[in-house]
Amino acid sequence: MTVVPNDDRFQPINLFEYEKLAKQYLSQMTLDYYSSGAWDEITLRDNRIAFERIKLRPRILVDVSDRHLNTSILGQPLQLPLLIAPMAFQCLAHPDGEIATASAAASAGVGMVLSTMATKNIEEVASACEQFPDSLCWFQLYIHKDRGLTRALVEKAYKAGYKALCLTVDAPVLGQREKDRRNEFALPQDLHLANLATISGLDISHEKGESGLFTYFAQQLNSAVTWRDLEWLQSISPLPLVLKGILRSDDALQAVEYGAKAIIVSNHGGRQLDGAIASLDALDEIVLAVNGRVEVLLDGGIRRGTDILKALALGAKAVLIGRPILWGLAVAGQVGVSHVISLLQDELNLAMALTGCAKLEDIDPSLLMFPRL
Ligand code: FNR
Ligand code: LAC
Repeated sequence: MTVVPNDDRFQPINLFEYEKLAKQYLSQMTLDYYSSGAWDEITLRDNRIAFERIKLRPRILVDVSDRHLNTSILGQPLQLPLLIAPMAFQCLAHPDGEIATASAAASAGVGMVLSTMATKNIEEVASACEQFPDSLCWFQLYIHKDRGLTRALVEKAYKAGYKALCLTVDAPVLGQREKDRRNEFALPQDLHLANLATISGLDISHEKGESGLFTYFAQQLNSAVTWRDLEWLQSISPLPLVLKGILRSDDALQAVEYGAKAIIVSNHGGRQLDGAIASLDALDEIVLAVNGRVEVLLDGGIRRGTDILKALALGAKAVLIGRPILWGLAVAGQVGVSHVISLLQDELNLAMALTGCAKLEDIDPSLLMFPRL
């Protein structure tokens, strides 16, 4: 399937071209917020370098005439081993924001994780997916100091039909993205934290000399959350728990202990702790440690079909992509997001054929060659 934006301007043929084109559609403040990593952006760059370092060892003379890219996550079917990562403030890219993203995901049969910091509300995003009953939609949770508010979000997500709670565990405070600090990042007057403003009146406001989002995190989020709070979360919701932001095998094992059903190996796209290892470099040790007891997903730096193949070869069940979705959204709304997904799908399909893999189960570690040190 190829969906091309109905537009006679330049047509991107890969995700890097989408990024270039998106710059023409976004304000400097939004572009900086979307693209930035923390501090010197070492981790942001390393997320890409980690993929580039690993080389492929293709298998030859395999019948790859009939290829299958489908899988399942937490028992739910996916057409591709791909989910859209939770990302805040999508209406900064396009007025349809998270609704466009969710519709594109559901119609392509990939997953979507809605951010706590969304600019469309939980219910309207859920109804965008209603015509696709199998659609995989999870709710990403930030635990606020106000437990009542957190509980209300969790209850709303369950009622609206989200299939899992994805708790982000790498952001007890927000990483320092220096461009946002310079820009004094804030939401424009007409945009709100759709799920928080209605329950609690909370919003991202202008802050002198600081990113409004940084200040929001410092004031509103609970930086005292520990493993014990997972028990609390599981006591207030029947939804399976997914932990996002794990980079060490001991933490992955704790996640299993505490009943998480899946984990996402992630450094938040290099936006939290700069100098943290690339998420791909953490994958191997984590997959080995959890030994199939939970599903392992990965995000950070996925830009090509071969990146997905490499992550799967290292044991990820699926991957999430972040920024390229925002570029697609900025360029052409839902159609742009669909196109970004279809470009990745076509690339993965081709990469599988060229490495001798007819189905995802054929992707194994023997396809990889690591750099000699
Ligand atoms: C994010 N990310 C993120 N994660 C999360 O758990 N909750 C959130 O609200 C957000 N918001 C957010 C906004 C923007 C603009 C970006 C770029 C990222 C992190 C995201 O889920 C994911 O971990 C990374 O984006 C993955 O890396 P790539 O694909 O962007 O390289
Ligand atoms: C970010 C937060 C909202 O990365 O997770 O900007």
